[in-house]
Amino acid sequence: MDKFIIHGGNALSGKIQVSGAKNATLALMPAALLASGTSKLLNTPRLNDVHTMIKLISHLGAECSFEGDELTINASNISQFEAPYEAVKKMRASIYVLGPLLARFGEAKVSLPGGCAWGPRPVDLHIQSMKRLGAQIEIENGYIIAKAKRLKGATISFDRSTVGATGNLLMAAVLAKGTTIINNASMEPEITNLIEFLNMMGAKIFGINSSILEIEGVDELTGAQIDTIPDRIEAATLLTAAVMTKGIITLDNCSSIHLLSPIAKLEDAGAVLSIQKNSVSIDASQIDLQSVDVATSPFPGFPTDMQAQWISLMSVTPGVSTITDTIYLDRFSHVPELNRLGANITIKENSAIVRGVAKLNGTKVMSTDLRASASLVLAGLVATGLTEVLRVYHLDRGYEGLEKKLNSLGANIERVTGSEY
Ligand code: EPZ
Repeated sequence: MDKFIIHGGNALSGKIQVSGAKNATLALMPAALLASGTSKLLNTPRLNDVHTMIKLISHLGAECSFEGDELTINASNISQFEAPYEAVKKMRASIYVLGPLLARFGEAKVSLPGGCAWGPRPVDLHIQSMKRLGAQIEIENGYIIAKAKRLKGATISFDRSTVGATGNLLMAAVLAKGTTIINNASMEPEITNLIEFLNMMGAKIFGINSSILEIEGVDELTGAQIDTIPDRIEAATLLTAAVMTKGIITLDNCSSIHLLSPIAKLEDAGAVLSIQKNSVSIDASQIDLQSVDVATSPFPGFPTDMQAQWISLMSVTPGVSTITDTIYLDRFSHVPELNRLGANITIKENSAIVRGVAKLNGTKVMSTDLRASASLVLAGLVATGLTEVLRVYHLDRGYEGLEKKLNSLGANIERVTGSEY
């Protein structure tokens, strides 16, 4: 397992290109299964999760080729309808194949996701959605076994905003007979990107960028080409790194419209930003860091996927701040590791109370999940001395060469491959 050795203390400076969005790609790839033909996803990031999804859809019979950032998927010969435990356990997003397989082939067998670094992360809303469209669902030996002659349009009202269940339901409803209405649909940019792709494939989805979607079912879809949106979480992570190191950076190929909430919080913290449509510059060289409270919420609110990184920033900011996660009530496995670096954070229910400290001291810390590992890398950038971040395979799931990007901005991170822990 790889680890990072980070020499802290360098201010970041320079320009960097943001990669395509992991959470868009992980929905666009299963969507390609809906058409008996070839689709092309542009600006696709090279991530472990993307390779995991390539393995899964190839197992189902899709032919994938990945040249540069162009991922081509030919879904003409799908012959398997099962997402095995090994795939779903490794990556929860594997459940996204449920909707497309059920919609196009009338059957799907998908493992329940099993445990996660934080959780529980149930899939009951995915299952309820398919039932509402008329699917017969059995849960047997840890698998969801779904069957449907032809899905029928229905109205589904989600009690809470759910990215995954919105995406799965969209991919099922596009081939259902009749009209489906999704009330309280997720408005995440990744879902908007999925809707754009499905409509380019011939689907009829109305209400894009709103929380009420109307889908008129069609009989078949054709392959299409889609531009994957930039990764707003990678972008916000890099901006936060610039603030922590009191640097000056510019992000290219990012959609500033997807970053307004993190940007507002970074400005509250004292950073100076200049915002163009597809690039953001930040100057934190003269910053007088201010502590800023955050409560996560569905888009366009502050993303839960930036909660860990924000705690890192606040741990070296004078004053006391409260970071509340309203989406995942226990997503704090990074906190004990940050405290080992000298941070002063206490957890109270679903909030972290962060008392800023003058400095962090480098030591060994363990990644536990994707965004937790990002928060530890950010802390290592400013900690005195050396910080070893272990098990960076978590990081590689969702950041394309993060250490290369940070080193190109002046950080000093060494990747050590094959370390013992
Ligand atoms: C997506 O996960 C993202 N993953 C997550 O990003 C992100 O944290 C999350 O949305 C919230 O924004 C991908 O897009 C691949 P949800 P998802 O359904 O779809 C509960 C990362 O770091 N819920 O919006 O699984 C759930 O427990 C990852 O990139 C149910 O109760 O999230 C949570 O509390 C981590 N039943 C809330 O809803 C269900 O059937 C939101 O979950 C489904 C979800």
